[in-house]
Amino acid sequence: MKVLALAGDGIGPEIMTQALLVLSELEKFGFKCKVVSMPIGGAGYDAYGDPLPAETLKEAADSSAILLGAVGGPQYNALPRELRPEQGLLRIRKELGLFANLRPAVAHEELLDSSSLKASVIKGLDVMIVRELTGDIYFGEPRGQRTTDSGEREGFDTMLYRDSEVARIARSAFEIAQKRSFKVCSVDKANVLDTSILWRQVVSEVAKEFPAVSLSNMYVDNAAMQLVRDPHQFDVILTGNMFGDILSDQASMLTGSIGMLPSASINTDGKGLYEPVHGSAPDICGTDQANPLAIILSLAMMLRYSLERDDLAKKIELAVKSVLQRGYRTPDIKQVGCDLVGTRFMGQLVCEAL
Ligand code: IPM
Ligand code: MG
Repeated sequence: MKVLALAGDGIGPEIMTQALLVLSELEKFGFKCKVVSMPIGGAGYDAYGDPLPAETLKEAADSSAILLGAVGGPQYNALPRELRPEQGLLRIRKELGLFANLRPAVAHEELLDSSSLKASVIKGLDVMIVRELTGDIYFGEPRGQRTTDSGEREGFDTMLYRDSEVARIARSAFEIAQKRSFKVCSVDKANVLDTSILWRQVVSEVAKEFPAVSLSNMYVDNAAMQLVRDPHQFDVILTGNMFGDILSDQASMLTGSIGMLPSASINTDGKGLYEPVHGSAPDICGTDQANPLAIILSLAMMLRYSLERDDLAKKIELAVKSVLQRGYRTPDIKQVGCDLVGTRFMGQLVCEAL
């Protein structure tokens, strides 16, 4: 078994170090795997002049699963779009066909008071956002900038979905719902967009294959409002690439901190890329303040979804819970009376709890 570690930029390397320490801690349960590290994002650009170097992509195709830190940083802002760190991430998703992005938002009992919402609104919350990841306005052509006849510059992108793309992500969502509460809410903008009208039709067709699961539809603006008004009405949220990008950041705040949220991006062969939902946080890079729990929980998802070791995934999740229960907090989730710790110590605590 080979795991590819793509630390990336900003706080990526610091949190990756902690995740890999947790991974090697699993040896005591008899679990062994080879870890290979490669650059991506800004680090890929610095090393090879490409945010997704061919060497990195080759290793990615050749490994059982991929763990990613984060990409991006202000020093790369002036680069042309195709050389920017984000392109490394978007291209690896596309190249490996990682179309199903699972973003669970779980409110940890211990962190209820770190949320900007009332504890009563988020207590017990457990929502799974299933975001389509390789289509939509992120990848649709044509796109670009041009000059109109009157000499004005205009920018344009194309929102586009084929029915096969909608059907396969819908199936993923329904299958996940069958292991949860048998409820899917599909989010679109079918009152305005043709892409969404097709999306809604295809999702309803696929729903017929899953008679035990109930399907509801919601416009994205309403969904954004309902998520903060009464998040408990949701279980599985199925949505496209761009709406999913926005709603998953919003959902992260329901849980207290974006620093706690893992994610999985899976293709049809079950190969997956696992990464925290948060970004590269250049403002705190190198200060030992980043929360390593999101990448550690991403590692747990990797064990569950790609390496068939649900038992080890549960051990990691329990270890994280016990560290939180004992009152240890990184700055993003700090509470009165807690023990404030840094990235490295938080990682060490999880290893010890394991
Ligand atoms: C995410 C990020 C990415 C996205 C960026 C970094 C390209 O925001 O994973 O949610 O928009 O998909
Ligand atoms: Mg995002």
